[in-house]
Amino acid sequence: MNNANKQVAIVTGSSRGIGAAVALRLARDGFAVIVNYAGSAAAAEALVQQLVKQGGQALAVQADVSDAVAVRAMFDAAEQAFGGVDVLVNNAGIMLNASIAETDDAAFDRQIAINLKGSFNTLREAARRLRHGGRIINFSSSVVGLLQPTYGVYAATKAGVEAMTSVLAKELRGKNITVNAVAPGPTATDLFLNGKPQEVVDRLAKLAPLERLGQPQDIAATVSFLAGADGGWINGQVLRANGGII
Ligand SMILES: NC(=O)c1ccc[n+]([C@@H]2O[C@H](COP(=O)([O-])OP(=O)(O)OC[C@H]3O[C@@H](n4cnc5c(N)ncnc54)[C@H](OP(=O)(O)O)[C@@H]3O)[C@@H](O)[C@H]2O)c1
Repeated sequence: MNNANKQVAIVTGSSRGIGAAVALRLARDGFAVIVNYAGSAAAAEALVQQLVKQGGQALAVQADVSDAVAVRAMFDAAEQAFGGVDVLVNNAGIMLNASIAETDDAAFDRQIAINLKGSFNTLREAARRLRHGGRIINFSSSVVGLLQPTYGVYAATKAGVEAMTSVLAKELRGKNITVNAVAPGPTATDLFLNGKPQEVVDRLAKLAPLERLGQPQDIAATVSFLAGADGGWINGQVLRANGGII
């Protein structure tokens, strides 16, 4: 197939959850998609097969985003397969909730390594390699505004992502590349649901005036807007996609 005019998107952490919905949506929007994953190879390959069956182009690439060498290799793989990269969606992330008093060093280090350094690793590569006119969409969280107990370290990593979003938007002057962040509220994925009793899920779902959890497709639609033509004038912003929770 001729790739000459095809736009290419890397979606980190797209084997499951919000990332998988973003990959599906961007493929539907016409992007060739790199489905990045850390451990879920079977899920990533299954998603690629689904995208190809629907007439899209996709490639699964294993890379732990906290590893700068692996991230560089992922960009190499994207360029080799599809000729370049136009969109980076920095979706990969983990959340390990605990009060600050009870957070151990390993939990702190892992969240910093994946959420903050992982975003830095991909941002650095994108800043060097994204084609003119590209788009970068980072993932923050509405907890940066809500600041509830037990979210301290996780919220700190996402606040750092928001800071890099604003700085990189300015640094890319002249390249016609926008840099924004999406900040979801509670969204129905493993990251949010795992380990929470149903009554806690129900209570958190009711917090937003729209009185439901976000679905991965809600967030994918927001990313699609920022990656597409209609989002072209949005730059350096954090877009909270949360049904009005804050
Ligand atoms: N769900 C929510 O309520 C919510 C709210 C606000 C913000 N967010 C943010 O939205 C993003 C997606 O969250 P989610 O809810 O979809 O999470 P999820 O269901 O737990 O999925 C996480 C994805 O990230 C990948 N991943 C984890 N560590 C990775 C690493 N080191 N390198 C590469 N990929 C890695 C996982 O791949 P493997 O399975 O291969 O490890 C998986 O595909 C995260 O940045 C999260 O902080 C989520």
